Amino acid sequence: NKPLNLGIAGLGTVGIGVLRLLQNNQKTITNRAGRPIRIHAVNAKNRHKNRNIDLTTFKWYEDPLDLATDPDIDVVVELIGGTNGAAYELVCEAIKNKKAVVTANKALIALHGNELAKMAASQNVPLLFEAAVAGGIPIIKTIKEALAADRLIEIGGILNGTCNYMLTTMTRTGRGFEDILKETQQLGYAEADPSTDIDGLDAAHKLAILASLGFGYTFNFKDIFVEGIRNISPHDIHYAQELGYTIKLVGMAQYHSENKLELRVHPALLPQSSPLARVNGVINAIRTKGEFSGYLMLEGAGAGEGPTATAVCADIIDIARGNTIPMWGTDWNELRPATLVPNSDF
Ligand code: HSE
Repeated sequence: NKPLNLGIAGLGTVGIGVLRLLQNNQKTITNRAGRPIRIHAVNAKNRHKNRNIDLTTFKWYEDPLDLATDPDIDVVVELIGGTNGAAYELVCEAIKNKKAVVTANKALIALHGNELAKMAASQNVPLLFEAAVAGGIPIIKTIKEALAADRLIEIGGILNGTCNYMLTTMTRTGRGFEDILKETQQLGYAEADPSTDIDGLDAAHKLAILASLGFGYTFNFKDIFVEGIRNISPHDIHYAQELGYTIKLVGMAQYHSENKLELRVHPALLPQSSPLARVNGVINAIRTKGEFSGYLMLEGAGAGEGPTATAVCADIIDIARGNTIPMWGTDWNELRPATLVPNSDF
């Protein structure tokens, strides 16, 4: 069978994870994909950084855009991150050149997903982004495939591993925010700029993707209510515990009525007995509520090399098999505009 040729841009934690996974599980992946998956070319900012992996068998491009025009590449895998410049341009160019695209870039999909999906559909190429929301948790596939028949009315949960780790550690040790922040950064889960995590923006990106995909609406990202965990003190945690609650950073999206959604990210008091209150450490948990399917909760690693690489490779295998359901089901181009309404619970 004809191999599927990849061009990979970005060799950070996730990029290296993808290379390792494709190498380690080559036989299984080939069997499951029905054809060999080959890395044809790679690109990263610094060619000479020590990555403990042999890159000499791949073509090297200094400019990521060369991946988009190389006629031997079938799939461009965008693992650069960020929304400005390189990642956005690469995805647009790849689609224009009729390449399939796999990306782990949540900010890009949250802010430009609708436009990129339309572009991909007009070129008849898949644009897949399982790894963009909650790393190893297969929530995009769950919404697009397993829950395809149902109408979702609620989606959300614990969407940022860094904040969850910090709040868990503050709860367990009584230590303060600043003290734990440094330790968390050393773990390597935080975004390049940790304020993206701490101030709730990372969770808001994930929530926006889930709500658009799950409810079928577009909305103004800036209207999402976002508050991070910077101001949570050991006192808050202590009193919450005394009253039988745990403080978690929660992202919640609710379908209110036609054209009216509520999306919010903020610290919340959860009863200690509730399922989300018991999700501790660098873990994400996402709960959906559907009219017919009721409640479903997925819990697992929301970041990290192995889990995120697994999600990227699952998308690549889907492309190899030709199993590429479009981004917003069949009515992607009929995404309706919605207004975000204020908080209903408080
Ligand atoms: N910084 C993110 C987190 C990683 O801590 O959850 C994946 O989005």
